[in-house]
Amino acid sequence: MDKLIIKGNAKISGAVNVHGSKNSALPIIVSSLLSENTLKLSNVPNVVDVLNLIKLLKNYGVKIEYKKDKLKINPKKIKNLSADYDVVRKMRASILILGPLLSRFGDARISLPGGCAIGTRPIDIHLQGLTKLGANFEIQSGFVVGTVKSQLVGNKIKLPFPSVGATENILMASVLAKGETKISNAAREPEIEDLSNCLNKMGAKITGHGSKTIYVQGVTNLKKAEHEIISDRIVAGTYIIAALMLNSSLEIKNFNTIYLKSLINILKKMGAKLKVSKNSIKVLKGSKLKSTSLSTSPYPGFPSDLQAQLMSLMCLSDGKSKIKETIFENRFMHVPELNRLGAKITVEKDTATIIGNQTFKGAQVMASDLRASVSLVLAAMNASGQTTLNRVYHLDRGYENIEKTLGSLGVKIKRQKN
Ligand code: UD1
Repeated sequence: MDKLIIKGNAKISGAVNVHGSKNSALPIIVSSLLSENTLKLSNVPNVVDVLNLIKLLKNYGVKIEYKKDKLKINPKKIKNLSADYDVVRKMRASILILGPLLSRFGDARISLPGGCAIGTRPIDIHLQGLTKLGANFEIQSGFVVGTVKSQLVGNKIKLPFPSVGATENILMASVLAKGETKISNAAREPEIEDLSNCLNKMGAKITGHGSKTIYVQGVTNLKKAEHEIISDRIVAGTYIIAALMLNSSLEIKNFNTIYLKSLINILKKMGAKLKVSKNSIKVLKGSKLKSTSLSTSPYPGFPSDLQAQLMSLMCLSDGKSKIKETIFENRFMHVPELNRLGAKITVEKDTATIIGNQTFKGAQVMASDLRASVSLVLAAMNASGQTTLNRVYHLDRGYENIEKTLGSLGVKIKRQKN
């Protein structure tokens, strides 16, 4: 397994271009299964989750060409298979193929995602929603097996929680369902809007996306389309936090700053000097940061995917901060590793207390999930001495060539292949 060797006391400067959003790309690539016509995508991030999904769809017979950040997907001759544990285990987002496959074939068989590093993450909301559209589910030897009698039929679906994945799965399934579907208490994440915009270009009739209530008028088929995927707000937020932790000036470009409003507000409250434009942010050096407290919550609230990175920053700010994690259980796996680097963080139930004004010291640490890993990279760049980050594959799932990007900004970081 690859390792990253990171030299501390780093300073960064210049500008970074944010790559395409992983969490938009995954459902949008899956949505191609609904159509018989070509979907061309641009700004596709070259990250391992996307590469794994491409592999999965190729197994289903989808023809895919991938050049630079462009994907050409032709799903005309797909066959229905079983998505096995080995695939679903690596990437929970594989469960998103359930809705489109049920819609196109009337049956689908996918391994249950099972336990996951960040909590149990069940799929009950996905299944309840798809059941309301007329699907029937059985669990057979660790597989969820779905069938539809004739065709999915639109319905009114109220989600008990605005799950991102469930909203996407139900949305995709309802595009070709008969009649109208109303999804209430839907997730409002920008990635849902992006998926809906792409589906509408393909000929779907979706309104209300980006709000709590989404309406879908079923159509009979979809046409060829082209779509540019939005840039990754979580990656953008990570680089903003990096510049603040390294007391460096940095420009973060090529993303819609509206999607990061919750982070920008918190950072400004903490005392960060930021120059915010429509599609870029300049972090200015010389910020004196103070502590704060917050809870993660569904969009437009503070994203759980930036919780670990902000926690790293809080270790350096003045005073005692608190973070309450309300989206996922057990999403504090970075805490013991940050403590190995010199942080003083304690966790009680869903709340972490972070003592500020700490100094990080390089050590051997272990990446445990995607965002946890990057919080360790942030701390390591600030630390005195050298840090070795093991199990880098977690990072590669969502950050495109992170060592190259950070290297180009001035960080001494190298990958050791094993
Ligand atoms: C997506 C994102 C992930 C982000 C998360 C929350 C992708 C590929 N991943 O994950 O990066 O951290 O949104 O913003 O887009 N839940 C249930 N039953 C369900 C579905 C979810 O109980 O059927 C629970 C989960 O266990 C979790 C919470 O709801 O505790 C949020 O999950 P969800 O919004 O579905 O996240 P994902 O789509 O898995």
